Amino acid sequence: MRACRGCVPDGCVGASPLSVCAVVDTPAPTVTPIVTIDVEDWRPQIRPADTERHARELEAGAVLVLPRLAFRFEPDEARFLNVRWSDGKAKNISFDGASIRGATGPAQDLAALARMIGRFAADATALVTALLPRYAPWLARARTSYRPHGAAGRALSWRKDDTRLHVDAFPSRPMCGQRILRVFCNVNPFGQDRVWRVGEPFEAMARRLLPKLRPMIPGEAACLSALHVTRGRRSEYDHMMLGLHDCAKSDLDYQRNSPQREVRFAPGTTWICYSDQVMHAAAAGQYMLEQTVQLPPDALYEPRSSPLAILERISGRPLLAA
Ligand code: SIN
Ligand code: FE
Repeated sequence: MRACRGCVPDGCVGASPLSVCAVVDTPAPTVTPIVTIDVEDWRPQIRPADTERHARELEAGAVLVLPRLAFRFEPDEARFLNVRWSDGKAKNISFDGASIRGATGPAQDLAALARMIGRFAADATALVTALLPRYAPWLARARTSYRPHGAAGRALSWRKDDTRLHVDAFPSRPMCGQRILRVFCNVNPFGQDRVWRVGEPFEAMARRLLPKLRPMIPGEAACLSALHVTRGRRSEYDHMMLGLHDCAKSDLDYQRNSPQREVRFAPGTTWICYSDQVMHAAAAGQYMLEQTVQLPPDALYEPRSSPLAILERISGRPLLAA
């Protein structure tokens, strides 16, 4: 049997029962590349040539992994590494700089928890600014999340089940081509890795799954907006991104048999990717911080590599028209 080229150099571990690597003969990467960066400061000094290289790697669909970049807790913050701070209803605890959601506890403790999440937001934003300075003028910071729940084993619908490979797309928040760049940090205090599966490149996934999507119905976007299902109008781009998200998650054959590899993020590791482009699934792990930043495709070195450009190329028409 041939070696699975997509799985070098770390190998295809396959902890999840769904982890099966496809063997293909093309020289192009068949799964998401992983690039390691040796940085241990949230405000690192990076040479301009390296900042461009890292941005281009991200834009080409890689995950950048910083294994020595840990979030530093204040002495009284270790207590927050406990699931009891979750209100049990929201998927995550989140903070937008003003209000905390999804958490429960005395007001004073919640204020301290919000300060901790706010510090991660500042660190993650500073990291993106230092590592990817071209993006800095364009960045729009979304809510910051703290995820105290185990990644697997929660009773969620298949659509919300992030243990299945998917690209990120928001049902209520049309992105209209804006990119979703995410910074994650494993803060597990018990030595437990965050385990991901990453999948095939965006274009390969889109070419495979787009034919299965239902077309947008005329008037659908206006209806969804009038009913306040969406904040603003859903573009055809957003319709396709949601369709790809749902189609991948609902297709168990795709989950089992599409090209994929396992990646383990040890505690104290930070990683960055365009989660609207990288096929990813969270197989295991508990306690993680996450910051989302949005930016327009014009901010990219290679706008042609964006999901919007790829989907427009495949479908042969603009996807942002009203
Ligand atoms: C996701 O964005 O799909 C979740 C990633 C994680 O929980 O590790
Ligand atoms: Fe996701």
